[in-house]
Amino acid sequence: MSKIRATITAVGGYVPEYILTNQELEKLVDTTSDWILSRTGIKERRILKGEGQGTSVMGVKAIENLLQKRGISPLEIDMVIVGTVTPDMVFPSTANVICDKIGATNAWGYDINAACSGFLFSLATASKFIEAGTHKKIIVVGADKMSSIINYQDRTTCVIFGDGAGAVLLEPTTEDFGIMDSILKSDGSGRQFLFQKAGGSMYPPTQETIAKKEHYVFQDGQPVFKAAVTNMSQVAADIMERNHLTANDVTWLVPHQANKRIIDATASRMGVGSDKIMMNIEKYGNTTSGTIPLLLWDYEKQIKKGDNLILAAFGGGFTWGSIYIKWGY
Ligand code: UT7
Repeated sequence: MSKIRATITAVGGYVPEYILTNQELEKLVDTTSDWILSRTGIKERRILKGEGQGTSVMGVKAIENLLQKRGISPLEIDMVIVGTVTPDMVFPSTANVICDKIGATNAWGYDINAACSGFLFSLATASKFIEAGTHKKIIVVGADKMSSIINYQDRTTCVIFGDGAGAVLLEPTTEDFGIMDSILKSDGSGRQFLFQKAGGSMYPPTQETIAKKEHYVFQDGQPVFKAAVTNMSQVAADIMERNHLTANDVTWLVPHQANKRIIDATASRMGVGSDKIMMNIEKYGNTTSGTIPLLLWDYEKQIKKGDNLILAAFGGGFTWGSIYIKWGY
């Protein structure tokens, strides 16, 4: 019997309307548009405004876009996995909320917290349920409302992050397409460089944690940058080698959008030219779990059946990884 693989059969995305420009940030913190652009590659990012508007709002819109494109009903969905560090609430999971909101009453699911690698970890997990033959249609969402945990008085983080959501549908195939391989890594000793200190069980919310601004993202940029360059490029090179892919065989590098300089370093290590790099950091910034599915959404029309895509990410945790996809449509 031929091997069952999980293949992406549809992509959806959503970014909020509000555009936070570098010029607006110049008025909030001591920064310049030139600094932001030259150090990160970001021009603007999207922000989800409005009371009671959580990550699920964007996830739902991305899924509705996907279902409409694929022409299927939410009742056909078996499972929803959501990569996010900004769930609507601590519990229940945003996947549960999304299933209810879209009417996916036959689905079950859960959230995966792997910071900026959240979408890759979720995609790899979902692919195993397809390969096992137990699930036929799984939606994988990468969504984050980073503006809910960003201090807009901290210039080291507020210039980087934005809000957005992307979603893909995974279905089985016995053809030689789909998710071909994945390498995923984590190293908890990196947790000191990128984290949100309070709000969990170690430091539950108090007036003091709020006064000390501990419910916001803390990032020590330099060590994260160095670890990102080293590990993201290494894991992308490893997956190419393991699958006997040369730079010529790679059609697209689909990298997490944290910093244009990290992306360029990864591409250079892989030997991949800039024409093969998917990039949208200039308009969305770093949407954490949202970056990679939003790239697939933005570039969908340019991807052809049989194209070799190398997805790669690095993020808080530390977490990192790479997935090799042979595009199926
Ligand atoms: O997605 C999850 C994983 N995250 C990442 O991969 C992010 C990795 N890190 C980075 O992308 C970069 O480290 C940052 C973009 C966060 C910072 O860029 P950098 O080139 O590493 O800057 P730096 O932290 O070394 O700071 C250089 C200078 C400092 O000033 P002094 O000490 O040289 O006087 C900072 O205070 O730039 C200053 N600075 C800023 N200046 C203007 C830091 N942020 C800003 C700012 N505007 N927004």
